[in-house]
Amino acid sequence: MRPNRRQPDVTVVLKLGGSVVTDKETPETVDDQSLAEAVETIGEATPERLVLVHGGGSFGHYQADKHGVSLSTGSHDAQGVWAIHDAMRRLNDVIVGQLQDAGVSALPVHPLSVAARDANADLTLPRESIRMMLAEGFVPVLHGDVVAQADAGATIISGDELVTRLATGLSADRVGLCSTVPGVYDDDGAVIPRISEFAQVDAVLGESETTDVTGGMAEKVRALLELDTPAHIFGPESLPVFLAGESAGTVVDSRSR
Ligand code: IPE
Repeated sequence: MRPNRRQPDVTVVLKLGGSVVTDKETPETVDDQSLAEAVETIGEATPERLVLVHGGGSFGHYQADKHGVSLSTGSHDAQGVWAIHDAMRRLNDVIVGQLQDAGVSALPVHPLSVAARDANADLTLPRESIRMMLAEGFVPVLHGDVVAQADAGATIISGDELVTRLATGLSADRVGLCSTVPGVYDDDGAVIPRISEFAQVDAVLGESETTDVTGGMAEKVRALLELDTPAHIFGPESLPVFLAGESAGTVVDSRSR
């Protein structure tokens, strides 16, 4: 497995959305072609330090709905919690396996085994294993999951929350959210190149919030504006550009205010 020296000393956190790696219409189905393309791109361009996160798509969301577990509604039913985790773990197995086949030194990190939330839903995600994997040239691959939460059993943790937590915890240099949209759209359907404060998009994004409990665009943008790191929201066609260190899709950067 080859280290690639294209972007030395740069730590990149990249999320592949569930819509990129799965067929969202069919329960527990990988989108083979879309995943293969993403894996090939990552294999060709692995930055020095890359942490990957993937979403749930038709694996996690399907099982979470089935067992009535969400970001805010927990469950003490171990079988249900395991069914959600198991779906995500199986998806993670496929992704890690394909990355390794493409020459990427990918290793799994399962949030259920290491993370927890307190009664205020604040997340603890220990970084030691991820840091050491990076130092040793591995590419940790995390995923949206279920995590134990004080007084709630277990609740969902989204890939987006993991991304923002990792970006801060690892002092990442670049953050990417790759989903099936090419960026954040303005009122005319054009991709907004740069967002530096929420007021810029309040009118366009305000209403989208209720449609997706773990991944609405408004929530993504709000969370990314909190970071010290520039974040890029883009579609799969821009993955090579992002991994080459250039701007892709919409850049969310509160520092450019
Ligand atoms: C969802 O993760 C994880 C589970 C439902 C277990 P995400 O919310 O990050 O997934 P996508 O990207 O929206 O599919």
